Amino acid sequence: MIRALLTALAAALLYLSAAEAAAAPDPYTAPIPAIGASWYPEQWPEARWDTDLALMRRANFTVVRVGEFAWSRLEPRDGRFDFAWLDRAIAAAARHGIRVVIGTPTAAPPIWLTEAYPDVLRVNEDGSVEGHGERRQFSFASATYRRYATRIAGELARRYGRNPAVVGWQIDNEIGVPSFDREAKAQWALWLAARYGTIDALNRRWTTEYWSQRYDRFDQVPLKSRGPHNPALMLDFRRFVSTVWADYVGVQAAAIRAHADRRQFVTTNSTSWNNNFDQYLVHRDLDIAAWDDYVPNGRPDWAANALHHDLVRGYKNRNFWVMEAQPGRVDWASLNRSLEPGQVREIAWQAVGHGGDAIVYWQWRSAFNGQEQYHGTLLGPDGEPMPIYEEIARTGAEFAAAGRHLAGTIVPRAEIALIYSQESRWAIENERHSRDYDPVAALKDWYRPFAAAGRAVDVLSPSADLSGYRLVLAPNLNLLDEATAAWLETYVRSGGQLVLGPRSGMKDRDNGLWRQRQPGPLSGLLGARVDYYYPLDEPERIHGDVGVATVNTWAEVLDPRAPDVKTVARYTGGSGWLTGRPAIVSRPAGRGSITYVGAMLDVDGQEQLTAWMTARAGVSGPVIAPVAGLEVMERQDARTRYLILINHNDVPVVVTLPAKGRLVLGDLRGSELPAHGVLLWAISRSK
Ligand code: GAL
Repeated sequence: MIRALLTALAAALLYLSAAEAAAAPDPYTAPIPAIGASWYPEQWPEARWDTDLALMRRANFTVVRVGEFAWSRLEPRDGRFDFAWLDRAIAAAARHGIRVVIGTPTAAPPIWLTEAYPDVLRVNEDGSVEGHGERRQFSFASATYRRYATRIAGELARRYGRNPAVVGWQIDNEIGVPSFDREAKAQWALWLAARYGTIDALNRRWTTEYWSQRYDRFDQVPLKSRGPHNPALMLDFRRFVSTVWADYVGVQAAAIRAHADRRQFVTTNSTSWNNNFDQYLVHRDLDIAAWDDYVPNGRPDWAANALHHDLVRGYKNRNFWVMEAQPGRVDWASLNRSLEPGQVREIAWQAVGHGGDAIVYWQWRSAFNGQEQYHGTLLGPDGEPMPIYEEIARTGAEFAAAGRHLAGTIVPRAEIALIYSQESRWAIENERHSRDYDPVAALKDWYRPFAAAGRAVDVLSPSADLSGYRLVLAPNLNLLDEATAAWLETYVRSGGQLVLGPRSGMKDRDNGLWRQRQPGPLSGLLGARVDYYYPLDEPERIHGDVGVATVNTWAEVLDPRAPDVKTVARYTGGSGWLTGRPAIVSRPAGRGSITYVGAMLDVDGQEQLTAWMTARAGVSGPVIAPVAGLEVMERQDARTRYLILINHNDVPVVVTLPAKGRLVLGDLRGSELPAHGVLLWAISRSK
């Protein structure tokens, strides 16, 4: 009875704080953390909007994203804009205390545009031309398309750039697919000319004597995304595509900023492990990063998802948005399993824990027709809440209650940095050498033990500022140019602990082989080199300071040259190329050290390696004793540290919270956190 009363009281308090937040909305920025959905008012009769918005408010929504595919409604004829309906939709949202993010509609051009200018259509690599009725049917390189896209973005910003209900802009939607049309090819030639200056320089750097690849002019170089082809060409294709997309985003951002208040952020929504372009470059002209966090098979891999959040936070080194997440399930996997009860909330809180300032569900309600009828939604075709609605509403109430605490907080800088080199990923994926070598999986393998131990990791580009990190990990820094090598050497000499993983330092800036063996320009600092590398089709073993461990997929034999190089682990067993040879070596350098791990370890081995690395680097112990499946995250401001704990297990776990501190909200029952439970714990930073 008392328990029931307490639960009711807690619910009432949550409700009150949610109501409080709704009663006094700050019209200029989105509440933090914000929660909402993609809403497509253009697909529904206006008479329905208020009902929808009221249901959103009942779910404690604070934000909607609108507009991102509505070009044919916003500009039904060339240059004839119809914003009246959007004016009313935004005003209606504002009346309900809901802020708005406007997506520029450029992922779905109207038919008058593609009909009048067929050469804006995207050309696939096989020469086929995309048509109307799908989306992303435009060429990212088309000047005509740019003109129209920039115009609609600018017109929207002129209209809503000072609208207090509009808090931000999303450019296009999930950009990425390149085009192989005439303009793209012409730009490719210009891009190559700008990069290499003369065709002779290109021929030399690409080693085009190989197979008579020599070119006489830049416009002879084929535009190709798929090999086998010259590795330099393969890499430059990606770089070229990255610059075109960065410009595409950049011109829309400029068109928006010409009219928008500075308080309105400009972003784009990227997809999971998007490999089409360099995220760091594309985010150059954006204020914040945002990504679409989907679990297509309905089976969350929490550590991998945590890594992706950290990756996205690193695009701008600041808090980000989750611009799309599934209310239960997607419709585009081979089997669209639903998340279990509690997991949608769990995923929302995980985003917040890693620096997410918003979670926006895709989508509110599915259109009766159109390609995505089976996707998870908050409302059914009848306009009534679906089963997931209550869980999301509860998450919304919690976000409202947490806002007072979390607004203005950030994820503190970690002691450990993990380097994500997009160019190395491209280089390896172009020549895997083993079907089992997946550079993204390798990154996850290196990240997992840290996540399991509750140790925060920042994921950074190779050119990021590394000063202050105790430990920097580069699991597969295949492409290592001179500047990055010098950067890393400075980090080591000034006291950092650098650990390189397999395949590091093999390629130069042109994806060519370094003249010295791995790790190329860092082999002097390491005082050792990789003698040779061996893809494996059965496990090998190592032993040494990291214990005994199994090696899968990839093994490199190290060859210490300098007397102060320490062999940390050796291969054991067998009588082959590996037997008895060093697998991991380390050397002090300046005030720090450099370590090279040549073996791809199994889960236990990676854990042992992690323990060895963190102990050596003097990384602080985790704030909470590790429990399997319990994730510990932190945000803070000058006054308070907030721990966010999630039990990703299907069973309860016992947690030992720091004695200092108090429960802000969550599911704690005694010392138990139930299955999929979440809690927010505050620790004052004042002495
Ligand atoms: C995203 C896309 C959305 C919607 C969603 C479905 O990739 O941005 O518009 O299609 O997938 O999961």
